[in-house]
Amino acid sequence: MALPRPDMEAFGCSTLLPLLFLLLSPPLLALSDAQAASIARRQLLTFHGNSFDFLNDFEFDISINVDIRNPRLKLAYNALQAWKKAIFSDPTNFTSNWVGHDVCAYNGIFCAPSLDDPSIQVVAGVDFNGADLAGFIPIEIGLLNDTAFLHVNSNRFCGVLPSSLSSLTLLHELDVSNNRLVGPFPSVVLDLSALKYLDLRFNNFEGPLPPKLFDKDLDALFLNDNRFASNIPENLGNSTVSVLVLANNKFEGSIPKTIGRMKSTLNEIILSNNGFTGCLPDEIGSLSELTVLDASFNSFSGVLPETLASLRKLESLNIAHNMLTGIVPGSVCGIKSLGNFKLSDNYFKGAASECTSRSDLVFDDKGNCFLERGQQKSRKACAPVQDQPIICHHADGTKCDIDMTPPPVYSPPPPRLYSRPTPLPSPIFSPPPPVHSPPPPNAVVSPPDPYNILPPVRGFNYASPPPPQYPGYN
Ligand SMILES: *[C@@H]1O[C@H](CO)[C@@H](O)[C@H](O)[C@H]1NC(C)=O
Ligand SMILES: *[C@@H]1O[C@H](CO)[C@@H](O)[C@H](O)[C@H]1NC(C)=O
Ligand SMILES: *[C@@H]1O[C@H](CO)[C@@H](O)[C@H](O)[C@H]1NC(C)=O
Repeated sequence: MALPRPDMEAFGCSTLLPLLFLLLSPPLLALSDAQAASIARRQLLTFHGNSFDFLNDFEFDISINVDIRNPRLKLAYNALQAWKKAIFSDPTNFTSNWVGHDVCAYNGIFCAPSLDDPSIQVVAGVDFNGADLAGFIPIEIGLLNDTAFLHVNSNRFCGVLPSSLSSLTLLHELDVSNNRLVGPFPSVVLDLSALKYLDLRFNNFEGPLPPKLFDKDLDALFLNDNRFASNIPENLGNSTVSVLVLANNKFEGSIPKTIGRMKSTLNEIILSNNGFTGCLPDEIGSLSELTVLDASFNSFSGVLPETLASLRKLESLNIAHNMLTGIVPGSVCGIKSLGNFKLSDNYFKGAASECTSRSDLVFDDKGNCFLERGQQKSRKACAPVQDQPIICHHADGTKCDIDMTPPPVYSPPPPRLYSRPTPLPSPIFSPPPPVHSPPPPNAVVSPPDPYNILPPVRGFNYASPPPPQYPGYN
């Protein structure tokens, strides 16, 4: 893995500096090169994954000239003053009242009686959602070790998540979505043993997912709209999440058959717009709590598993823009709860009559190979794929083998339905982040551009983490 250079660009921050000079008139604080480099060096330190006993080893260089008798709030004061220094732009004056010793009165800070000593107040939560702050998340965040939730979505934080975050042993909810964070999967989150909700969407994280992520006892996991790549680890099925959103990344390979083990917990899974291949595993049919399945805009092939008919709670099924073949089973269209079934742009050659006769089912079959229905592919486009039957029930599981008996006389490569647009521009001139992440409740999402697909909002347990809650604190 190439480590980023220790300069600002390496941390996705390069847009900030020109912006600063434009927006801030002198003599306001602008970040000097030396300050920027110093921050970047500290970030790099954590980036290397150095784990050290943060609370004991870190040298506090902030002079405290305020009297705070409660030592826990004193640490929080240090943390928040350091954070304020790491903020370069605060257009809404969100941190303007971060002065003085009463950290519990700071915007975005929520205090509660400590769990181990109810006679003292501690910082139980931090919520800067939508504050539009630009800057870094400083290493001193590790001092906020009584915090149960940390919500900083829709800001302009860049760099990496400091490894000192592992000191937050009570952290239940971590939402850093819609920022400009970079680097490999932030493995520090694996150390957060109380974590239930992890939201990393709309950042620039890249590379593979660590298998340990799926051994964690999480309720919800949002990874969409990053640059994650590689296969999904085989232990996917160990996960306890009810919501899993992997959309709009560069994942590839097949879906592990262990997915069936998520049967008592998995409610929604969004796989759209990645490079997944292979057949949809039969084991998906075990997911009896599933209400939303979106596998659209991938390269799944083979037939639709009949086992999907067992998804008695399924409301929305989207398998559009893949290379699926065969007949759409009537048992799947017959799922009573199913209201929306989108299978456009595949190679299906027919559908059972249940599919087209139900008035309460939106059935979108455009761009397939149905002879008798409108808006279908041409015969010429259908033939090469349909002439190469795919065997899904291969002994070793999800691998789809092309049936070579009898060998095709000529085998043109199957047409790629969905060729990826050129990669998104590099973060050096990063486009402004999407305005809403998570999407606002009840947003009507119509996806003309696959890169703008947002996960459906309906039914999300955690569409937008409500501001102050005190998980574990009550
Ligand atoms: C923020 O504070 C500055 C200086 O006090 C003021 O000029 C500006 O109007 C404030 N901005 C907002 C959005 O309140
Ligand atoms: C946070 O750190 C302080 C100082 O080391 C310690 O007294 C306190 O018990 C810690 N809180 C938790 C929840 O571990
Ligand atoms: C996770 O799954 C793998 C097999 O896929 C298994 O070997 C391992 O023990 C599981 N880990 C936990 C923590 O359940």
